[in-house]
Amino acid sequence: MKFFIDTADLAEIQEAGEMGVLDGVTTNPSLMKIAAEREGKPLDFHEHIAKICDMVPGDVSAEVTAVDFDGIMEQGRTLAAIRDNVVVKVPLILDGIKAINALAQEGIRSNCTLCFSPTQALLAAKAGAAYISPFLGRLDDISSDGMTLLQEIIEIYDNFGYTTEVLAASIRHPMHVVQSALLGAHVATMPLGVIKKLLVHPLTDIGLAKFMNDWETFKQHQSG
Ligand code: E4P
Repeated sequence: MKFFIDTADLAEIQEAGEMGVLDGVTTNPSLMKIAAEREGKPLDFHEHIAKICDMVPGDVSAEVTAVDFDGIMEQGRTLAAIRDNVVVKVPLILDGIKAINALAQEGIRSNCTLCFSPTQALLAAKAGAAYISPFLGRLDDISSDGMTLLQEIIEIYDNFGYTTEVLAASIRHPMHVVQSALLGAHVATMPLGVIKKLLVHPLTDIGLAKFMNDWETFKQHQSG
């Protein structure tokens, strides 16, 4: 399973990269806003995406803000030209699906975002999206079930052998990661906070504290 970090914050990308578990990055306009606020200065979108691309070996999703076919195509081509590892993030709307298909014909990979139903995911795969991003947490937020959607997409794609990779997005907590992995999602994208939570277990901390304490006692009893 690939791990992507869901942020545009360079320090967070650096930290996850140092853990050696990072396969890629997903950004969106909201995450760009947060990154600019944290840096305390306006950011050049394309320059910032280039910086991110140079920090990670894998794919970096950069989202278009146009919602019409021509605008999505123009922005998509510009984003794809930044680096080879840019994946153009396109919303799951009619012009978006048309653009995903046209971009694929130009050899430009896309991440179809804002997916909330299996029919949307089926259209994205048929149009030629490289990734489909079902938003698990946002469905859970409205008392729906993100995991059911993920399971249905994976089953439908398996039935027909679609090569579109299933990218579990809008992940809120470690159990979203566990369940996505059990279902066989190709990728999970998550905030740094969730990546860090994946390693936490109280028995590890308790066990380590006891080892350290016993080691101190052992040293006092060492001869010489
Ligand atoms: C990633 O591709 C998505 O844009 C992101 O996971 C959405 O997460 P959110 O629902 O926490 O904003």
